[in-house]
Amino acid sequence: MNFTALRGMRDILPSEVAGWRGVESAARGVFELFGYSEIRTPILEMTELFKRGVGEGTDIVNKEMYSLKDQGGRDISLRPEGTAPIVRAYLENKLGGESGLAKLYYIGPMFRSERPQKGRNRQFHQIGVEAIGSSSPYVDAEAIVMMGLFFEKIGLSGCTMVMSSLGCAKDKKNFSDRLARFLAPQRNRLCDDCKVRLEKNVLRTMDCKSESCRALLAEAPSPLDGLCDPCRVHYDKVKGAVRGSGMDFRENPRLVRGLDYYTNTVFEVIHSGLGAQDAICAGGRYDNLVRQFGGPDTAAFGFALGVERTLLALGAAGNGQGGCGKVDIYVAAVGDAAFEEAFRRAHGLRKEGVAVEMDLDVRSLKAQMRQADKKGVRHVAIFGDDEMAKGEVLIRSMDTREQKSVKWEDIAGFIKK
Ligand code: HAM
Repeated sequence: MNFTALRGMRDILPSEVAGWRGVESAARGVFELFGYSEIRTPILEMTELFKRGVGEGTDIVNKEMYSLKDQGGRDISLRPEGTAPIVRAYLENKLGGESGLAKLYYIGPMFRSERPQKGRNRQFHQIGVEAIGSSSPYVDAEAIVMMGLFFEKIGLSGCTMVMSSLGCAKDKKNFSDRLARFLAPQRNRLCDDCKVRLEKNVLRTMDCKSESCRALLAEAPSPLDGLCDPCRVHYDKVKGAVRGSGMDFRENPRLVRGLDYYTNTVFEVIHSGLGAQDAICAGGRYDNLVRQFGGPDTAAFGFALGVERTLLALGAAGNGQGGCGKVDIYVAAVGDAAFEEAFRRAHGLRKEGVAVEMDLDVRSLKAQMRQADKKGVRHVAIFGDDEMAKGEVLIRSMDTREQKSVKWEDIAGFIKK
């Protein structure tokens, strides 16, 4: 039997990892400039957390979760997203603290059993942020421009941001009623799923992918038309502060997002080079989720970006160099006695922070030079009987072909120079 990775799940190969690390460390660097701290939560959570957080009527909860019973018969699920777990962790660990605002970020795998295609995986990775504890529009704006700075740092262009507002819970309810009144007379034109959505959670009809529903919904009312005054002011302030920071966006009044927890600001970032799965990052405000999880009234805002899609958009996936990490020096030992001493000395060099590569199969000098060349190493330390007698190595520059004798003790200094 040949084992393969599960459909929609893939290995991230050594040649790709440099790209992943680059994106992750840029995110860490940028987010920490804005006072966000990293949090790591478990991959498994109670299924109920997502039912209540993301929403029972959503595709994520209805169709896409990897759920199972644990040995104690409890319903648990692989996390399909990060927001609900972070809010749980915020409450459980009382992360609100004295300032009242918890600024958290996370990096890790999420799981959704969707039909795999380009940019859509069953295990995928998100980099997300959640700012919990303030209803200020400047929290929304700051996080959005932070995202913009992150894209700038990784050199990603070709992004379009679309933004809208759903308003507060009351505005959302009013909009749901208006939408239901609009759709009810045209019920027969809706797909079977949307007929159910019309009864149970009418907002979710706005996520429907079927052509006939989309055509119908293009004529539907927009949440933006029904915003109450404070929600309108909030949204205007977000737009003003984002524009004021030099970031461009388009308004899309039909943007509702596929998760139930959103209120007020919602946004998505689309990348033109991605095809059908073009949303690279998405998020918004969720002012009622903390209370829904049993906490006090606490406003919050966040977003998450898909790492696979970011790398696809960057064109960076898979263009690394053959899995070779940074090598400072390749030690080529000639003969068994020299190899044994070089093996010991190499350990000493690594303790000093020098990245050393050696041929552990103890092949010929010619084979070792070929391997060093293939790995793109700049310096090779040749170590044979003569060098062993003098306690030196012969360092050859692979660029200039120049050679120089250096004492073992001086190699670290030579490399640093
Ligand atoms: P989401 O829109 O479901 O939002 O996912 C955010 C991003 O994750 C998407 O824009 C996309 O880049 C990536 N993504 C989602 N599903 C897949 C998939 N199957 N394969 C590859 N990439 C995918 C959330 O998850 C919210 N928790 C975001 C948020 C944080 N809202 C507030 N705070």
